[in-house]
Amino acid sequence: MDKKLSAYATRTVPRYTSYPTAPHFGPDVDAETYVDWLDALDPALNVSLYLHIPYCRSICRYCGCHTKAAVRDDPVYDYADMLGAEIDLVAERLGRRRRVSHIHWGGGTPSLLPAEPLAMLAEKLATRFEIAEDGEHAMELDPRTVNAALAERLKAAGINRASLGVQDFTPAVQEAIGRIQPFETVVDTVEHLHAVGITAINFDLMYGLPLQSVDDVARTAEMAASLSPARIAIFGYAHVPWFKVHQRLIKTEDLPGALERIEQAERARAVLEELGYVSIGFDHFARADDPMAVALSEGGLKRNFQGYTTDTARALIGFGASSIGQLPQGYIQNNPDIGHYKRTVAEGRLPIVRGKELSADDRLRAEIIETLMTTLHVDIGEVATRHGSDAAAFAPTFDALQDLVRDGLVTTDGSTIDVTATGRPFVRLAAAAFDAYLDAEKARHSVAV
Ligand SMILES: C[S@@+](CC[C@H](N)C(=O)[O-])C[C@H]1O[C@@H](n2cnc3c(N)ncnc32)[C@H](O)[C@@H]1O
Ligand code: SF4
Repeated sequence: MDKKLSAYATRTVPRYTSYPTAPHFGPDVDAETYVDWLDALDPALNVSLYLHIPYCRSICRYCGCHTKAAVRDDPVYDYADMLGAEIDLVAERLGRRRRVSHIHWGGGTPSLLPAEPLAMLAEKLATRFEIAEDGEHAMELDPRTVNAALAERLKAAGINRASLGVQDFTPAVQEAIGRIQPFETVVDTVEHLHAVGITAINFDLMYGLPLQSVDDVARTAEMAASLSPARIAIFGYAHVPWFKVHQRLIKTEDLPGALERIEQAERARAVLEELGYVSIGFDHFARADDPMAVALSEGGLKRNFQGYTTDTARALIGFGASSIGQLPQGYIQNNPDIGHYKRTVAEGRLPIVRGKELSADDRLRAEIIETLMTTLHVDIGEVATRHGSDAAAFAPTFDALQDLVRDGLVTTDGSTIDVTATGRPFVRLAAAAFDAYLDAEKARHSVAV
């Protein structure tokens, strides 16, 4: 069985933060399409906003994010000006102020925005949009960049949830990943945030890192939980050195094998569940009183480009280089090249380079995949009927799932599929069975666990 699990774990599959996934976006969706889609957006709908800050002080060896090192602040100031200009462009197109339920600042490291651009952008959002008082306004922070003054500025900018990059507390692992960040740095960050009233805190941990043992992962999970964050994500390190060249600084021989990765993920789960966290999907945990755990039990949990989310808005507007937006008609992506992005916005044009208009079949499969990824259960008959489709069309998919059924990762009953406890870390494999685009793209994704 170990051999089988190891083979499953090393299969390469998407993380399904969208369906179809980003490699299937194409240039047929452009700025003109985006304008049409924005014009058609029902003014009564809530929208969510995503702002991408593609800068960090230095690049961690494992990093798979779209970011660049900025030693000085000048490029960050320039970029923030363009981000402000892009917000103006989109807001003018939308016409009236839309109500915003979720804002997420991601990166990169948004916490390295200097005081003026941070305040300018927060003010711009508040002027251009009607931000819901009870909405989630989250930012990703690198604890190494947080002090009391920044916490004050975040509070003033309206941030009410902070997501901290923690990874692993073991000194040898930190050395191997090029990110020295002692436990005390995270403790101080949490204290600074609590002091200004930002008490909704998420931690990002990782497994599968170089020189990392199962015990390191378990100890890190315990230390993280001792600070009582509302949510903890534990991401499996995606080693894609052909795509992220700086990952070549990580020695392949230092990486844990497939079975060890599975054990690391499972030990972290056992530790966190024992400490009272609720498992969300395959890589998130939340305290039972956190809105994400509530959304899971009440059926409102979603998955978008930030991973698992409580955001139920049907329109997500992305700002910044590489950011991806989602409107009822489909997905749109901004130019990932920072120079091109800035030049396009400076010319007063929307910097869209690709996207994907959703077909009826895409929508049906997207719902099946999202339901599986969030609840680990789906009734294909029920979803297909709601989409005016016939579940019988999925008979070959059920056949394809039989290996997972035989190996105890999935059970099927009529038209329903359930992912078992053993199968939870492998849920992406069950989702992949419903991906009509996958075959052509297999090589570009990371391993399943
Ligand atoms: C944008 S960073 C978080 C904020 C900030 N930049 C930081 O690192 O503290 C997003 C998170 O993605 C995760 N991550 C980055 N590269 C990854 C990779 N190659 N595989 C899996 N997770 C990764 C890390 O846990 C990281 O904290
Ligand atoms: S993990 Fe965070 S801080 Fe490190 S390079 Fe990636 S985005 Fe930057």
